[in-house]
This record gives sequence, C-alpha cells and structure tokens, in this order.
Amino acid sequence: MNKKAGYVFVWPIGTRIIHWMLALSFTAAFITSFYEPRLHDHVAFGFIFLTIIIYRIIWGFIGPEYARFKTFKLKPSQLKEYFVIKIQNRWRKIPAGHNPASSWFTVWAMGVGFIIVVSGLLLYGIQEGKGLFRDLNTNYSHLMFVLDAIHKYASYLFVTWVVLHISGVLVEQFWHKTSMVFAMVTGYKKTDGKDTEVKSILSIFSYIMIIIAIVTYFFIVSSNYNFLTLQKFTNVDYKQISPVYVKECGDCHKAHPPYLLPKKSWQRVMGALDNHFGEEITEANITKSQQASILEFLKENAAETSTHESSIKIMHSLGKRRPKAITKTPYWRETHKDIPKYVFKDKDIKDKSNCSACHKDFEYGNLDDMNIKYPFK
Ligand code: HEC
Ligand code: HEC
Repeated sequence: MNKKAGYVFVWPIGTRIIHWMLALSFTAAFITSFYEPRLHDHVAFGFIFLTIIIYRIIWGFIGPEYARFKTFKLKPSQLKEYFVIKIQNRWRKIPAGHNPASSWFTVWAMGVGFIIVVSGLLLYGIQEGKGLFRDLNTNYSHLMFVLDAIHKYASYLFVTWVVLHISGVLVEQFWHKTSMVFAMVTGYKKTDGKDTEVKSILSIFSYIMIIIAIVTYFFIVSSNYNFLTLQKFTNVDYKQISPVYVKECGDCHKAHPPYLLPKKSWQRVMGALDNHFGEEITEANITKSQQASILEFLKENAAETSTHESSIKIMHSLGKRRPKAITKTPYWRETHKDIPKYVFKDKDIKDKSNCSACHKDFEYGNLDDMNIKYPFK
C-alpha cells in the first residue's frame, strides 16, 4: 500500500538533499570560477561536488531500488522508444525510477563531473602550486594550459547537460503535467509503483556523506594553510638573497619579484636606467658594480627559471617580445582588464604599477590569489 494514493515515494530525503547539493555546489563553483580572488570558495564548492559524486556512485550500487545503476535503462533502443512514446502520447505514464533519458543524464553527469573535479584538483596543484597536488607544479607546470582547457570545456559540457535536463523536466511539468518538478522536492512521483524504502544504515550513510561535504567546505574556506589549500610557494625574503636589489630598487616602489619578467626584459630595464619611466637613475644613485650584481640576481631568478603560474603565463603571452614593464605584458593586461580605470587612479593606489596596493606580500614574491585585496579596501 502506497503512503499517498496515486503517487509513488521514489526519492528519499537523502537523495533529494544530495541532488540539490550537487546542483547548488556546481552552480556556485561555476559562478566563483569567474573571480580569481574567490578561488578558495571555488575549490571548496568543488569539494562538495566531488564528495557528492563519490556518494552518488556508491549509492548506485548499495542504495535503494530506484537509485541503483542496475535499474538504469541505457539501451539506445529504450531511449528511442522513450522519445517516440513521449511525442505520441502526451498522457503516458512515467516510470517510477529513472527513465532512459534521466538514466543517460545521470551516467554522463557523473562521468563529466568526475573529469571536472579531477582536472580541477590537478590544476590547483600544477597551476597554483596549491592543495594535494602542489608538488606537481615543479615538474609539470607546462601542463597547466591543457588541464585548464579540459577543466573549462568539461564544465561547459556539464552546463549544456544541465540545460537539457532542466528543459526535459519543465516539459514533463507543463506539457505532460507529471508534476516532475515537485518530485525532487517532496520525493513523490505521480505514477504507479512501489514506495521506496531506505534501510536506516543507508540513511546514516547518506547523512555522513552530507556532513563530510559540508565539513570539507568549511575546512577549506577557513584556512589558506591546511593540507587541502597549502601553497608550495612561500614568502621569499629577497633582502636575504640580494640586499642590494631590495635596497636600491625598492626605494621608489616596492622591489618587483624577479620572476615576473624574462631575462632580456631585465637586461633592457637595467640598460636604460638613465631614462627609467621618466626617472633618471645614475651611477651616483646605483654604482656600476651594484647594477651588475642586481642584473645578475634578476637574471638568475627571471621568469624563465620559475614555475609560478604568472611566470609561465607571462612567457607564454609574450612570444618574442621583451617589454620593460610587467604592465606591458599581454598577460598582465588580460588579468587586470576588468578593473575599471578609476580604481587605479584612487588616492591609495595612484598607479597601476603600484602592485602592492592590491597584492598583499607582493614584495615577498607572493601572488597567491588569496592575497588579492580587491575590492582593495
Ligand atoms: C628614482 C625612483 C626609482 C628607482 C630607484 C627605481 N625605480 Fe623602477 N620605476 C620608477 C617609476 C616612477 C616607475 C613607473 C611606474 C610607477 O610609477 O611605479 C618604475 C617602474 C618600474 C618597472 C615597471 C613596473 C610596471 O609597471 O610593470 C620596473 C620593472 C622597475 N621599475 C624596475 C626597477 C628596478 C629593477 C630598479 C632598480 C635598478 C628600479 N626600478 C629602481 C621609479 C624608480
Ligand atoms: C587595483 C588593484 C590591482 C593592482 C594595482 C594590481 N593588481 Fe594584479 N590583480 C588584481 C586583481 C583584482 C586580480 C585578479 C583578477 C581576476 O579576477 O582574474 C589580479 C591578478 C593578478 C595576477 C594573476 C594572479 C593569478 O594567479 O591569476 C598577477 C600575476 C598580478 N595580478 C600581478 C600584478 C602586478 C605585477 C601588478 C603591478 C605591476 C599588479 N598585479 C597590480 C588587482 C590589482
């Protein structure tokens, strides 16, 4: 006997919470991906998404009847038949569990979702030098472009999928009038079949996974220094390595981390000190031997020698060009193009070259996304 006449209880509360957590964590991760300073939240939402995907895969083997993969209808002929009947008969009965379209959707979403989180975790390590795979940055930084593409296009594919899924549900709701939208809210589907039953041990498992997802989220956003967020690169005290550089070149502006320009660019900067962005720096200010020592230091630590994301991307964006300023590199322009001009004119910033106004610990070579002060007040 079903609990509610004319309806079947198909989605227990655990399944529904999981469904909405998957939807919300993906949406939140997708939105935050457009804001570099929100990288932490992006990663944290990604971890919720990952936990739920793992949960869903396990659920497909041990969960209640309607959630099991073995009840999925994955034969192409079933999918075709499903659409034929759907078009021919507006008032056909829907199955209690997954129909062929939603079976396919679930399997594909799990697969693409898995690609998204794995590529994301690797990218976090290889590009940012952060998280579980931070050490991979040392040898595999050249892979950041391909990983970035995989991560990005897989998530666009996922969005396309979601749009199809939502369209399908809306057609059910408003054309076939099967009340499908409410099924994932109330758990009841308007059809024939047996109510689902969830053993309490399975419910406990659901709640544990939900708690793991939420705890992981807070674990990540709460600290920049735990094993899921730690960065390989730490603050560098350039004063220790080259006191003369920090003293002489950190006088008018904060000394720039050397890895932000290639060797040839530093050569050009040092070769033209008599006209240094409108300033005249002479041998009376910085002696010949000091200049030589500074150039040596800059070349030894130039962009070519570094696996920082910004070094790799600056080199990549430059091609054969060797400008005298970081702000002249296409990469710098690209990463700062969304900042309105007037922000750079603010009395506390004054100039776009005043990197440390927005990048905390800039003079220690730290360009961690978590250190971006933006909005800068
Ligand atoms: C007399 C003051 C002064 C000294 C000393 C000085 N600079 Fe500069 N530097 C400037 C000014 C002014 C700019 C233009 C941008 C700005 O206003 O900060 C600039 C800009 C730069 C830029 C370009 C930043 C960008 O926009 O991407 C680099 C690189 C640079 N300096 C390197 C050096 C190095 C290396 C030394 C040491 C040899 C040095 N500077 C010493 C005044 C100085
Ligand atoms: C007005 C504030 C501001 C100033 C000044 C500024 N930046 Fe930024 N910078 C930002 C913001 C905001 C971002 C993140 C942009 C985004 O969302 O992708 C950023 C991103 C970056 C990135 C990319 C970081 C990453 O991991 O993707 C680099 C590298 C960088 N800035 C270097 C510099 C340098 C070098 C200077 C000085 C020549 C500078 N910035 C000046 C605000 C500023």
